[in-house]
Amino acid sequence: MKRVTYFADKNYKIGQVDPKLFGSFIEHLGRAVYTGIYEPGHPTADEDGFRKDVMDLVKELNVPIVRYPGGNFLSGYDWTDGIGPIENRPRRLDLAWRTTEPNEVGIDEFMKWANKLNIEPMLAVNLGTGTPKEAGFFVEYCNHPGNTYWSDLRIQNGHKDPYNVKVWCLGNEMDGPWQIGQLSAEDYGKKARETAKIMKWVDPTIELVACGSSSAEMPTFPEWDRVVLEHLYEHVDYISCHRYYENLGDTNDFLGSFADMDNFIKTIASTADYVQAKYRSKKKMYISFDEWNVWYQKKVELKDWEVAPPILEDIYSLLDSLVFGGLMCTLLQHVDRVKMASLAQLVNVIAPIFTQKGGPAIKQAIFYPFYQVSNYGRGEVLNTLIEAPKLATNRHGDIPLVQSSTTYNAEDNTLSIFALNCSEDEDLVLDAQFRSFGSVQVIEHVVMDGTDLNAVNNFANPDNVKPRNVDVSNKSGDHIEITLPRMSWNMIRLQCTSN
Ligand code: AHR
Repeated sequence: MKRVTYFADKNYKIGQVDPKLFGSFIEHLGRAVYTGIYEPGHPTADEDGFRKDVMDLVKELNVPIVRYPGGNFLSGYDWTDGIGPIENRPRRLDLAWRTTEPNEVGIDEFMKWANKLNIEPMLAVNLGTGTPKEAGFFVEYCNHPGNTYWSDLRIQNGHKDPYNVKVWCLGNEMDGPWQIGQLSAEDYGKKARETAKIMKWVDPTIELVACGSSSAEMPTFPEWDRVVLEHLYEHVDYISCHRYYENLGDTNDFLGSFADMDNFIKTIASTADYVQAKYRSKKKMYISFDEWNVWYQKKVELKDWEVAPPILEDIYSLLDSLVFGGLMCTLLQHVDRVKMASLAQLVNVIAPIFTQKGGPAIKQAIFYPFYQVSNYGRGEVLNTLIEAPKLATNRHGDIPLVQSSTTYNAEDNTLSIFALNCSEDEDLVLDAQFRSFGSVQVIEHVVMDGTDLNAVNNFANPDNVKPRNVDVSNKSGDHIEITLPRMSWNMIRLQCTSN
């Protein structure tokens, strides 16, 4: 068996995991909101119409922050359509997804849902058809205590205490021709800067996210990011980036998506550092990777003007979940720069949770790697030294056969190793040495693998794809060998015995 040498040392660290790395995203798109998180009349609906079965799954995923309300939807959205008595709210055409938006859920309902789950909101303001002034009013509605028009309206709508929303996105994917009100980098930079000034004047405690490139494949990448940051550097706290991956028929290329994500992050970080150097600024620009996932974009079919039609409902396979795990490792490997990320999305729309209207909610294959990393990838990411054989790919060149990341959680003195074995035909031995950690004991080794890479979960067979536990008895010491099965995603948790 081929070997992968691995050294972990307590003193070699990349950085602290910000829990916001495990954020997600709910857009008014398809069935994410309606029949996703919200379905009055569903057997599990609570008094506010929120599906409790979905809430239970969201709790399992341990999602700390959720981006809302879009997405492409945002650029045509007037947030004031979603406040006040539901029966008075307008039904609007949503030009982004060619649906009808009933506005039964708006900011106050979303906040209610988020509060029930102890989830922090990450709100976005419309910089497509929206104005800087309207963005300021939105902050005032959410965060101002009272005695002004917008804050009093919130109180009148039944929410006495301000929401104190901390994180705000300045628009969405404004570089994209698909965006309602697309802008050039220059125009976006100026509009976003003026918006940022107003929003921070209303509430100086907020943090702002500027729109970075919506994909590494945009012809304007990374020039967009440079120009935008030159306008906004001292006004914002994060630059956003988005990236989706799909299987275009070459399995190795698909498995190597983590390498593409790695390059994307490095390029954005260097672009931001260039602007920092140009301005002699002391401020480090962090990255909000606020849309990422596997997404079969070529299969999107829109249905004209329905309310909450089933669109972008990708059903994820075992192979998708392996790729997904590799991407999660890349996010962890960049914790020193990527402080926040949003899995796009959370329910039904390219999501780990899938619901049936009036019926059950199930876990998609990608649910599991997210669950594992979100729950156990806590503490500090270690700068491990790994030597793995190489895999030649057409798209990414040579990539390591194993993509991995390790976290050390000082709270319970445990290590979590996450590892993707990309080899189509060979199990690999992870030859792990734990140096300053001393002796460790394997608590569990959980594997996702299988002979059918196309296997999926569905309502008839919801547990078709799920992780299995490997026997770990007698696995302890300062040097441990662990088998990573061919084409597998692995989580190995270890108890450290010394401090
Ligand atoms: O997440 C689906 C869509 O992908 C979002 O609406 C948009 O921001 C991106 O293009």
